[in-house]
Amino acid sequence: MTYAVTAASGQLGHAIAERLIDRFGPEQVIGLARSPQNAADLGIEIRAGDYDDRAQLEASLAGVSALVLVSGMAPPDDRILQHRNVIAAAKSAGVSRLVYTSIQGPEDGTPFSPIVQSNRQTEADIRASGLDWAIGRNGIYIEPDVDYIDSYRARGEIANSAGDGCCGYTTRAELAEAYAALLTRGGMGGRLVNLNGAPITQAQLAAYLNAAFGTDLRYRAISPEAYVADRTAELGSFFGPIIGGIYDGIRLGAYDRPGDFEMVTGRAHQSWDEYFAALAD
Ligand SMILES: NC(=O)c1ccc[n+]([C@@H]2O[C@H](COP(=O)([O-])OP(=O)(O)OC[C@H]3O[C@@H](n4cnc5c(N)ncnc54)[C@H](OP(=O)(O)O)[C@@H]3O)[C@@H](O)[C@H]2O)c1
Repeated sequence: MTYAVTAASGQLGHAIAERLIDRFGPEQVIGLARSPQNAADLGIEIRAGDYDDRAQLEASLAGVSALVLVSGMAPPDDRILQHRNVIAAAKSAGVSRLVYTSIQGPEDGTPFSPIVQSNRQTEADIRASGLDWAIGRNGIYIEPDVDYIDSYRARGEIANSAGDGCCGYTTRAELAEAYAALLTRGGMGGRLVNLNGAPITQAQLAAYLNAAFGTDLRYRAISPEAYVADRTAELGSFFGPIIGGIYDGIRLGAYDRPGDFEMVTGRAHQSWDEYFAALAD
């Protein structure tokens, strides 16, 4: 068996490649990357893998038995077409199992919903492909909130439109473990799973950050309109509403799920007590 992962130059693809190398050794793992030089440190064969180039993808998937497609970053309509290039190339190249990193999120009624819908379209395309498939729907990465700690500290608070909604965050490391399992374990074919840790509120997130970093952050719920204005001032008029839409999704319960991580990996998702305690060390 030869296992491969796309976007090996990115953080999630890189982490998945590392888990596969741990399990099977470097000879059985191939990375695809639009920017191969950014994945060279993995110490495995890296092949060209631009989602916009179907012929290149097909050539690069020669000999690959099972592939993880890491969701791209392009706007929704382009993203659907890029993912179709990967699916078609995988079929032509004789890949037998295709695993896709999809997302949880609000499917309708928010500025983030078109992105969620583009992921749903790729899920449908994969299910219709005739390939053996498995699909994970990722919870929200928790790392950006940790990386944002200096900004939170400067503001003295976490203020957003999530309200009392619970969010099943996850980490790229835990996702990598789950995707390695979805790709390689028996009984995973045809599975659509939610991959996240225990759902927590923003107030709980603030408490965890306080414990890890010695801050005194409070959580303050603000209106969706005020939060979009806040994010737009920092991130611009394209990303501001999208971020607002993610927090609308938290408030509306789109990320409040127990998740299937343990069924997929055979162990519980890392607890937030453990995750934040390690950050404090
Ligand atoms: N769950 C969440 O909270 C969350 C948050 C953000 C994103 N996401 C999704 O998760 C995915 C992976 O996240 P990440 O942390 O690994 O992001 P990341 O570190 O920013 O990596 C993004 C990867 O996508 C690759 N890529 C972009 N356009 C491509 C193309 N046309 N062809 C091939 N590769 C392309 C990049 O390649 P280059 O090295 O060539 O740029 C890079 O490897 C993202 O793509 C996004 O869909 C999820």
